[in-house]
Order: sequence, then structure tokens, then C-alpha cells
Amino acid sequence: MIKEKYAKEIEGILARFPTKKSAVLPLMHLAQREYGYMSQEAMREVAGILDLDPTHVLSLSGFYSLYYEEPQGKYVLEICNDLACALRGADEFVEMATNKLGIPVDGTTADGLFTIKTVMCLGACDRAPMLQCNLKFEENLDEGKFELLLSRLRSEAETGGEGTAVAPKIASYAVKK
Ligand code: FES
Repeated sequence: MIKEKYAKEIEGILARFPTKKSAVLPLMHLAQREYGYMSQEAMREVAGILDLDPTHVLSLSGFYSLYYEEPQGKYVLEICNDLACALRGADEFVEMATNKLGIPVDGTTADGLFTIKTVMCLGACDRAPMLQCNLKFEENLDEGKFELLLSRLRSEAETGGEGTAVAPKIASYAVKK
């Protein structure tokens, strides 16, 4: 239960907001950090801590693309294929990326390393094709750069580097401020 395990952290997050309800997003990140995704249990726990209806947490989880409702790979490759990026080849890039990793959009590789998602505009339209890998932008991509990115992330995973998991980063920002 995150309520007990992260009591001090939760207290710090709550102290930053005028009402408990306002702390829902950072608490969801904390829950996602613990469970890897916004499981039913995670949503119920967050709702319980904040005295909210679980359906409120569920609706936020569905709305924001950085909350995951299913387990994800270590590296979530979120490729923008919104209109401006589509005009610069994003759909072809998505096809290349899914073929290279052998997974469909929203799929995760068998080794648990990569998940591919498509997302709406990330605000880097002039640098398409582009993707966001756990908060970090990779821009002006092509097949060669994508291969280099995959190999960099694979070696990072092998050497036990920090990685780019999004939930720990966001949760730590939430606590530090
Ligand atoms: S449409 Fe892709 S970043 Fe704006």
C-alpha cells in the first residue's frame, strides 16, 4: 500500500496543494512508480488517500498519456503522428519502428524493454519525425537514428544505467519543489 510505504513522501506532496484533490496527479505518478502502471489497485489507493471517487482517478488516467493503464516496457517510445508530423512522414516512421521491433502500436517487446505508442502533438512539429522516450525528445528521426536510439537504450538497460523511466522522474520533481 503506497499510503504506508510512502507516508512521508505523500505528506510532502499534500503539503504543496491547497486541497487534497489538487494533489491527484503527483500522487498518481507516485502510484505508477510503485506499480509500473495505473492498475485498478493503484487508482483505488490514490482515490482513498484523497477521498475521491475512484472513477475520477480513472478518468484522469484515461485522459493523460503519461499514465498507463497496462504494464509498459522500460522505454516507452511515444511517436507523434498528429497532422503536422504526419505531413513529415510520421506514419511511415511508425510503420518502420513497429516492423523493426516486431510489435504493433501499443505493443511491448518480449524482453520488456520497448513499448511503442502514438500520441498527439508534442510541440515539436518542425522536428518530425519525432518521439518522446520517457520525457526525453528524440527529433528529426529516420531509420538510422532510430536504430542508434534502440542500441543506446539497450546498452543503457544492460549496464543498469539510470534509464528514462518517467514515473520516478516526475514523482521526484513533485517532491523536490
Ligand atoms: S504534430 Fe507532432 S509534434 Fe506537433
